[in-house]
Amino acid sequence: MNLQDKVIVITGGGQGLGRAMALHLAKKGAKPALIDMNPEALDETVGLCLELGVEARAYVANVADESSVTEVFDSIVAEFGAIHGLVNNAGITRDAMFIKAKDGEVTKRMSLDQWRQVIDVNLTGVFLCGREAATKMIETGSEGCIVNISSISRAGNMGQTNYSAAKAGVVALTTTWAKELARFGIRTGAIAPGFIGTEMVMNMKPEALDKMTAGIPAKRVGEPDEIAHAVAFILENDYFSGRVIEVDGALRL
Ligand code: CAA
Repeated sequence: MNLQDKVIVITGGGQGLGRAMALHLAKKGAKPALIDMNPEALDETVGLCLELGVEARAYVANVADESSVTEVFDSIVAEFGAIHGLVNNAGITRDAMFIKAKDGEVTKRMSLDQWRQVIDVNLTGVFLCGREAATKMIETGSEGCIVNISSISRAGNMGQTNYSAAKAGVVALTTTWAKELARFGIRTGAIAPGFIGTEMVMNMKPEALDKMTAGIPAKRVGEPDEIAHAVAFILENDYFSGRVIEVDGALRL
């Protein structure tokens, strides 16, 4: 896909990785349609895209809410005319140990709420936005591509039962959709970032962050633009579908 004038929807597009993706794709001439819960962050990112001379718009919505997702994708098609790409980037963490115990006594457990919040946004949100984007691509006759942001944590990461499960699920959605949607000219791809220098990672418990970064062979956390670069590769390469690109400085959990 040549990104010039292509409408690319990015969830969680207000800040962090989503903002880096919006700017990277805008520099290639794409038109970002940004979905986020935070209107101020969204407006700032849209402003930065407009400065690059492309059309960009902000949409405030919760990706885990079915009717909001439907409404927002309707608005995007009404305002831009089509959707050529979706990056399912919105994600949250609610880290906690599955079980903590001392001297044979269980002292703490991951709550059902911590489990549900992460599954709702990071897995159900991907399902809902992916389903809506594919629907619109088919209805408007535009071949397209869906990029899902997984994580190195999909392999299983201590303190992330909820997040690891969601991010492994996201890879399963990617391979399944690649098989089902190829007949409509829709490709998929996933990226599994390692530890990238965003607020999400920098807000980790300092001891946990130090331990994690010490083990990265590249000896640094990744830059958001290094993930955006992988997003552009998946969107642009017409023979790439259904697979995961790992961008993690060679870290293995
Ligand atoms: N490796 C080895 N041991 C670990 C560990 C790890 N990664 N994580 C926790 N432990 C151990 C601790 O050392 C501790 O051991 P002791 O009881 O022997 O002292 C035990 O497990 C319990 O851990 P905490 O004392 O840290 O428990 P807590 O309840 O205070 O905190 C936690 C739990 C919030 C999950 C905290 O451990 C934590 O923040 N861990 C990091 C989780 C993580 O990696 N998150 C990634 C966020 S960034 C992201 O998700 C983006 C992405 O895609 C990669």
